Amino acid sequence: MTPEKRPSTPFNRDQIFQVLEYKKQVTILSPQHISLTLRKNVFIPDEGTFKLIEQSGKLIREHPTITVIADIGTGSGVIGITLAKQFPHKTVYAYDISTAALKLAKLNAQQNEVTNLSLFHNQRGEWIHKHSPSSIDLVIANPPFTDNREHASPTFAHNYPDYHLQPKQAIRTYDTYGTTPYKQIIRQARRFQVPFFLFRCNPFSLDKVIKQISSEELTITEIAAANEPYIFLFVRTK
Ligand SMILES: C[S@@+](CC[C@H](N)C(=O)[O-])C[C@H]1O[C@@H](n2cnc3c(N)ncnc32)[C@H](O)[C@@H]1O
Repeated sequence: MTPEKRPSTPFNRDQIFQVLEYKKQVTILSPQHISLTLRKNVFIPDEGTFKLIEQSGKLIREHPTITVIADIGTGSGVIGITLAKQFPHKTVYAYDISTAALKLAKLNAQQNEVTNLSLFHNQRGEWIHKHSPSSIDLVIANPPFTDNREHASPTFAHNYPDYHLQPKQAIRTYDTYGTTPYKQIIRQARRFQVPFFLFRCNPFSLDKVIKQISSEELTITEIAAANEPYIFLFVRTK
């Protein structure tokens, strides 16, 4: 497929869903100026994704010891690719369980001429690929976010009007408290001696996620954008 190198359409999530009703894919310019192709079988990034990229950039600049970055659940690749472009001397690993996501992330990496990013295909229950080639300095994750309680709540359809348009394994944690992705990421991170984590968290499960992280011998150093629909947890090993 020929890479679409110069998209001029800015990011507008509602319009993207509309276009994807009749087109296989759409290429837009992301708020952080990468050319991003999106398809309906892969999570469409939202405002929280782009805020997470901003927060990640800030953290990476503040801690020059961070040289290897892992983007867990990369989807379209937007987080990993943007950071790989912004920090060409860093190494980025990007993981997903979905072959459709990895195919799209590969296309997006190519069309942005990113060479410092490697993609890995995870198996079920795996979040940090066991053959990741080195230690990792920063884990960034916008993992599946809606737990069984929220899915069953009467406000669910109102809060997630685009639920039926998104792949379920991108959205649902299929557990009671939404903690499983965080718990598994943190436990698998131990063998890679990861000192920094930056997680996006759904306000609905925030208290349970905080409790889970704190029970894993990690310290939450900052909770950012605490009153927004997107919350970011900065976490360090003790
Ligand atoms: C909420 S989406 C986030 C996508 C992208 N990072 C973004 O912010 O636009 C969560 C992603 O996690 C992926 N995922 C689910 N289980 C996974 C696993 N075990 N390992 C890696 N990725 C997984 C989904 O396929 C999906 O792409």
